[in-house]
Amino acid sequence: MTKKDISPDDGPSKSSIWGGRFSSGPSQLMQDINASIDYDRRLYRQDIAGSKAHATMLAACDIITDADRDAIHHGLDSILDEITHGDFTFSAALEDIHMNIESRLAELIGEPARRLHTARSRNDQVATDFKLWVRELIDSVDAALAELQGILLRRAEEHADTLMPGFTHLQTAQPVTFGFHLMAYVEMFGRDRGRFADARRRLNESPLGAAALAGTSFPTDRHMTAELLGFDRPAANAMDAVSDRDFAVEFLAAAALCAVHMSRLAEEMVIWCSDRFGFITLSDAFTTGSSIMPQKRNPDAAELVRAKPGRIIGSLNGLLIVLKGLPLAYGKDMQEDKEGVFDAADALGIAIAATTGMVADMTARPDSMRAALTQGFPTATDLADYLVRDLGLPFREAHHVSGSIVAIAAERGCDLDALALADMQAVEPRITADVLAVLSCEVAVAMRRSFGGTAPDEVRARIAEARTRYALDEG
Ligand code: ARG
Repeated sequence: MTKKDISPDDGPSKSSIWGGRFSSGPSQLMQDINASIDYDRRLYRQDIAGSKAHATMLAACDIITDADRDAIHHGLDSILDEITHGDFTFSAALEDIHMNIESRLAELIGEPARRLHTARSRNDQVATDFKLWVRELIDSVDAALAELQGILLRRAEEHADTLMPGFTHLQTAQPVTFGFHLMAYVEMFGRDRGRFADARRRLNESPLGAAALAGTSFPTDRHMTAELLGFDRPAANAMDAVSDRDFAVEFLAAAALCAVHMSRLAEEMVIWCSDRFGFITLSDAFTTGSSIMPQKRNPDAAELVRAKPGRIIGSLNGLLIVLKGLPLAYGKDMQEDKEGVFDAADALGIAIAATTGMVADMTARPDSMRAALTQGFPTATDLADYLVRDLGLPFREAHHVSGSIVAIAAERGCDLDALALADMQAVEPRITADVLAVLSCEVAVAMRRSFGGTAPDEVRARIAEARTRYALDEG
């Protein structure tokens, strides 16, 4: 690179917004590293709403005239129109969304536009815009997760009696129902919604009017702008208000965990629809073919949902690292807060939508699920429980006896319920024919009636209760 490439003389002209003390414009490189307009334009609606509230307050406090306020409002409405219709020219020389809008406002309405920035700074402005954006995002994520829960609930209801193996270590453990298994995810996404709601509660304090870092000497009313923008109150410390990005971190943290939950479901779908398992099939809507192997139906959507935590956790790490050790108050480092959040928001949104689609779309294959229960001795625990309940054996001993019987069944190559009574009695002579009743998977499932257990009636009760607890619509 030659010196000429970075010479200020070759760069953009000096800023009409902050260029007072400068004799020339920044270098092209300075503009390139500084400009955020390529991504922060996503904040345009929030920036306009924030400016309108600020102008309303300035007029109410007699800091600008009502005529100025009206001109500002009118101009901002036109800009909103221009941007929504794609008629707005964004300029990198104007750095960011705030200066792009303010500069266009000046073109449209002249002098009143130059009064808008009284008693505020881009520092409180960007914090306000970004908070408003994340707040809307949280609301839409909550609605999407509620829809996902609703679909899971409906599928769970459909399959409250459908038997399948429950796994630990991905080894057959005990029989459960498919409805029971799906309801586990309703709880996970319920906790995610709780985390987003918590984040929203803490987020909802207005930074607007904190100005650069120290507040302002103008007689402003921060309570008024807070209320106009739907915040619960103004943030109590101006320096904190402009330095705080906790809301972005909290969103990313909640998003990361939510994405991790979805990746577990996605991975289960990948396993369930594999040829080896065949517990579900996914339709053409959520699978793709192979360019070489004509028989393939690949669960790409599920695999991509499985992968999404990578970038979301990456964004969380990225922002924490940007903020770590950053002195108060604002530092330009903080401009690096947005891209990760935008990317994570997009990734989370599409992952929730795809998961919802796949859960609605999947066809369960109860016969394959039931067939899988003929391997892996899923009622071995029930045999041990029988020995405790009917014969009074201590559980540890019963566990041992049941294990020895499993070993015999494994040797004979049959399931526990196909083993001759005499084989069992050879291990424990007090076993009677009553044992046969507890060795069936249907009975094993029906007997697990403890609160939150897999028995179909219990699952149905939990479905009804979850519908109320999470305020989900009737199926
Ligand atoms: N584009 C900036 C950001 O996103 C806006 C705030 C700029 N403030 C400043 N003092 N330069 O952080």
